[in-house]
Amino acid sequence: MDSAREPIIRFRGVTKSFGRNVVFDGLDLDVLPGETLVVLGGSGQGKSVLLKLLLRLLRVDSGSIVAFDEEVTTLPQPALAVLRRRIAMLFQGSALFDSMSVEENIAYPLLEHGVRDPVAVRARVGEVLGMVGLPGIERLLPSALSGGMRKRVGLARAIAFQPDVILYDEPTTGLDPINVRRINGLIRSLQARLGVTSIVVTHDIDSAFTVGDRFAMVWEHRIGFTGRPEETRTCPWPWVREFVAGGRGVLEADLVPDPQVGG
Ligand SMILES: Nc1ncnc2c1ncn2[C@@H]1O[C@H](COP(=O)(O)OP(=O)(O)OP(=O)(O)O)[C@@H](O)[C@H]1O
Ligand SMILES: [Mg+2]
Repeated sequence: MDSAREPIIRFRGVTKSFGRNVVFDGLDLDVLPGETLVVLGGSGQGKSVLLKLLLRLLRVDSGSIVAFDEEVTTLPQPALAVLRRRIAMLFQGSALFDSMSVEENIAYPLLEHGVRDPVAVRARVGEVLGMVGLPGIERLLPSALSGGMRKRVGLARAIAFQPDVILYDEPTTGLDPINVRRINGLIRSLQARLGVTSIVVTHDIDSAFTVGDRFAMVWEHRIGFTGRPEETRTCPWPWVREFVAGGRGVLEADLVPDPQVGG
């Protein structure tokens, strides 16, 4: 771990259950400024819940989440609104408003955060659409967009207010290979151009290796592993190696003792 950089987000001892369904039981996680942290883990293990706890769309049962030196779990309302402006989320499935045009969708968070000048709003919408490679589609309705375009409009909306942190929930799921490459490229270029910190939740191992500076794996209700992507290949825990071996299966992961596989 890079001890020279103080984490900008810190989860400590977080517990969260829904009734008898224990999702987290003592989760610890640090996110370093400027990094792209990929959160891996099987379906239903709590990856989306983790992001929602950070934005306080869900409440922890116990434990602490500190973001930008503030305790999120007890943050009073006005400060919570500021936090949600600094941490933008690209939701699993984009979550665009179907009855609103692309422009209205992207302008929504700007208006919500008090940007009222219509000229400034329009200019910003045009700018972020350009950044995601979709200039000139302001008037279209979401129903007229492909899945890949919807994801990119969702991303344009997420970056409209210049967040410090972007949370991506399954940004490439369900996209064709060209759009997967596009989204991966956008995640990287936003990090490079805007210096944002990103948390990317994904099942897509190729994307994880493409965008991730560091991996964190949810395992048995906690973060069971954190490390650089290449460390997963030689990690002592078989469940880490099996997960990143993906479709290549358990046997292969176990049979190759020291795989010299390039990232
Ligand atoms: N609002 C909620 N109310 C009740 N249970 C919930 C709620 N949100 C999530 N859960 C439960 O919490 C667990 C973790 O859900 P979560 O959506 O975080 O999984 P995930 O790791 O994101 O899965 P996937 O990879 O399929 O998206 C699941 O058992 C889910 O049913
Ligand atoms: Mg999820």
